[in-house]
Amino acid sequence: MDRPRNIVILTGAGISAESGIRTFRAADGLWEDHRVEDVATPEAYVRDPGLVHRFYDARRARLGEVEPNAAHAALARLDAQWPGELLIVTQNVDDLHERAGAKRLLHMHGELNSGWCLACDERFSWDGPMGPGAACPACAKVGSVRPDIVWFGEMPYEMERIEAALRDAELFVSIGTSGAVYPAAGFVQTAKYVGARTLEINLEPSQGSLLFDERRYGRATVEVPRWVDAMLASK
Ligand code: OAD
Repeated sequence: MDRPRNIVILTGAGISAESGIRTFRAADGLWEDHRVEDVATPEAYVRDPGLVHRFYDARRARLGEVEPNAAHAALARLDAQWPGELLIVTQNVDDLHERAGAKRLLHMHGELNSGWCLACDERFSWDGPMGPGAACPACAKVGSVRPDIVWFGEMPYEMERIEAALRDAELFVSIGTSGAVYPAAGFVQTAKYVGARTLEINLEPSQGSLLFDERRYGRATVEVPRWVDAMLASK
């Protein structure tokens, strides 16, 4: 591959799996023992806010028990050293990319460590449990703070910025994502349309694997550092 200038990297749950965070589409089809529609939709939140909060409070608490792995560290190294444009777009709501040191990063599906007040529309960082009785730090209203997570049926964040980066991309890399959830699953097609080369790094072929020019299969902690080392050696 000729040395690309502009790189867009999409990451999914597979990059955090070896840190001890379970992926979404496990063999049982359940997400941490819940059906997605019971915990990750606006309807679920209206129906049973207590359940949804307990679910995300547990996921947030888990962040304190896990550490970034070699794949997060490698991407942070690439981010720090790559001379061209680079954007890491993560679907993950954990904070492992930033804890590894990544800066050119956006969370298209929101973040566990962020809250959103439905009364005043402010977003703010959040530590510890949230629960249905949390008070908004901006407007002080009680009971209007929800996890700042993009649920099914909601619009992912920063789509304009992502589309702009994809339009300029010369290389698109998809890491640890099953390619099951749009719009992220369609980024590879946008990248191809503008003439970017495309690379998939995953444990196994994803649903869209045949769309990629190059595919590397193995554990993220092995394959991502290997790829990053080769990129930095070529810069
Ligand atoms: P998935 O759970 O659908 O897919 C995880 C992918 O990671 C699979 O293709 C696995 O093969 C791969 N994988 C697992 N372990 C790996 C490892 N050690 N190294 C490399 N790859 C590995 O997760 P996502 O594709 O991220 O959305 O899911 C996308 C979205 O669906 C999530 O952001 C979430 C979910 O519902 C929302 O919450 C809105």
